[in-house]
Amino acid sequence: MIVVTGATGGLGSATVEHLLKRVPAGQIGVSVRDPAKARHFADRGVRVRQGSYEDPGDSFAGAEQVLLISGNDPAADLVSLHRRAIDSAVAAGVRRILYTSQHGAAPGNPYQPSDLHLATEAILGDSGVAWTALRNGAYGPLDQVLGPWQRTGEIAQPADGPVPYTDRADIAAATAALLAGDRSVDGPVTLAAPNAVAFDDFAEIASDLTGRTITRVVLDDEQWVAEQIANGVPEQAARFMLTWYQATRAGYFAESGPLLAELLGREPRAIADRLAETV
Ligand SMILES: NC(=O)c1ccc[n+]([C@@H]2O[C@H](COP(=O)([O-])OP(=O)(O)OC[C@H]3O[C@@H](n4cnc5c(N)ncnc54)[C@H](OP(=O)(O)O)[C@@H]3O)[C@@H](O)[C@H]2O)c1
Repeated sequence: MIVVTGATGGLGSATVEHLLKRVPAGQIGVSVRDPAKARHFADRGVRVRQGSYEDPGDSFAGAEQVLLISGNDPAADLVSLHRRAIDSAVAAGVRRILYTSQHGAAPGNPYQPSDLHLATEAILGDSGVAWTALRNGAYGPLDQVLGPWQRTGEIAQPADGPVPYTDRADIAAATAALLAGDRSVDGPVTLAAPNAVAFDDFAEIASDLTGRTITRVVLDDEQWVAEQIANGVPEQAARFMLTWYQATRAGYFAESGPLLAELLGREPRAIADRLAETV
């Protein structure tokens, strides 16, 4: 059995949908905090069990593979929660754990979640079972990444660097391919679109798409933080996001890899196509 955690979230639920096209529903389980939210999977024959990273209960029982979706609560001690989930999966006898890590996770990467993912990868390395860390490319919605450029005609963000912005739907399909056994890969692997682009490139693509001149405006870091706070974003959250821009311009996300395309059997969705959808 393949057990997917976070299956009531974006990536986990999309991965289960892809799995349902590939393996019999009876071989799929989900470990979710609120089983009521996963009723649509139970109705299709998926085993739904209650479990959290704090207390996975018996939700990993009988699993050969577990997909551990990284937690999303910035106030939680996520490394400890991931450790608990990993220990529970190992105790349940799983043969492989797949974990959603982050593209560019490396010592010194200023983007704050990088350290969490490296720490979780280290726990996996010590777990004694086979493991795969899916270092997923940045898949935030493009309107969030770029801000209100369609209204303002400007992509006004701090200085940035190249990032292979990736479609979460592609990552879900590729993750399902790995879980279904199309390929077996060990340790950390990059799952990201092949081409890294910066906001200058976005401005060019957006100009071509709209026939308007979309300008890239580089904001001073502190000016940007002040604007975020003025828009109601808590300062801590704004400074957290600032570490993302700092990481991009330090080049931590510049390199990608071929695995996503190989698992999909096609090119990952191009940034221009994704941007066109939002215009
Ligand atoms: N690569 C990227 O660009 C990127 C972007 C955003 C996030 N991420 C990371 O990737 C993860 C998956 O992304 P997503 O888009 O699917 O996020 P999402 O929609 O927020 O889903 C996160 C899932 O994790 C579950 N979860 C959180 N804390 C948990 C806990 N303590 N015990 C059990 N389940 C827990 C949530 O459960 P509920 O459904 O019960 O809330 C939810 O199903 C995120 O949590 C985050 O760590 C990566």
